[in-house]
Amino acid sequence: MRQTITQLLQHANKDIDIYEAEILLSHVLKKTKEYIISNPKIKVNLFVSYKYKKLIKKRSKGIPIAYLTGHKEFFGLNFFINKYTLIPRPDTEILVESVLNYITNKNILIDIGTGSGCIPISILKNKKVTTAYATDISKKALKIANKNAHSHNVKITFLQGSLLEPLIDIIKNIDDIYITANLPYLTEEQFKTEKSIQYEPKSALVAKNNGLDLYEKLLHQIKTFSNKTITAFFEIDPSQSKNITNLIKKIFTKSKIEIKKDLSNYDRVIIIKIVN
Ligand SMILES: C[S@@+](CC[C@H](N)C(=O)[O-])C[C@H]1O[C@@H](n2cnc3c(N)ncnc32)[C@H](O)[C@@H]1O
Repeated sequence: MRQTITQLLQHANKDIDIYEAEILLSHVLKKTKEYIISNPKIKVNLFVSYKYKKLIKKRSKGIPIAYLTGHKEFFGLNFFINKYTLIPRPDTEILVESVLNYITNKNILIDIGTGSGCIPISILKNKKVTTAYATDISKKALKIANKNAHSHNVKITFLQGSLLEPLIDIIKNIDDIYITANLPYLTEEQFKTEKSIQYEPKSALVAKNNGLDLYEKLLHQIKTFSNKTITAFFEIDPSQSKNITNLIKKIFTKSKIEIKKDLSNYDRVIIIKIVN
């Protein structure tokens, strides 16, 4: 028997909260949440009900809602995501805001570990940056990043490989570079104890050496480019602030470091004006 929107929402309410049930129902119905709320008595066809109930089951097992709907809002923009990409986080918006405060159309943007492409796409949608590159070790993540760049109508060259490796020849010929990176920075312990992230790719979250392994490698790669004007923006875990600052000072003795805090007043983004 066909059920109404109200009946379906009540059914889901046993397993997940009403707000999420509304998101999932609007997703399968391909209607806005406002439509769902203002049409409680409309009867839903059986196929839609079946699809919705399947999603409710998955959500009650802990699968993030963004993986069930296939998209997530970031910096006011809609991004496609899937199980190969990290779900963009509000904390990363601090990094984007920090870059937008400095970057001009003379700078070349390079995003490392781009995932869904949310960082460079959000920057390009808000500033006229003419040249942008992005890398990721994951081919499958880059497919989604490409799809997002197309849907937002921005031009970014996506390259597969580790950190700056795919860009070594390109960087030799450019100057005034802005490097952004939200690389994996959690420790194994942090990953194991955080239940909410178990469905996201571990390779997008965890790094060796207290979570700093990839940032250290990236800093050493940057070090090989002498006489370049480079400004780097890294998202970090607040607990790493002191260690990464020491690391940067060791590798670039004359660099200038600035730290941006997140909304909870924790250190979240480190800005490095690199003097090589
Ligand atoms: C924390 S996620 C961030 C994704 C995206 N930038 C964001 O903010 O949502 C880290 C990303 O780095 C990528 N990654 C991991 N190791 C890498 C490496 N050695 N070189 C380039 N990318 C790497 C992962 O595949 C993942 O997409």
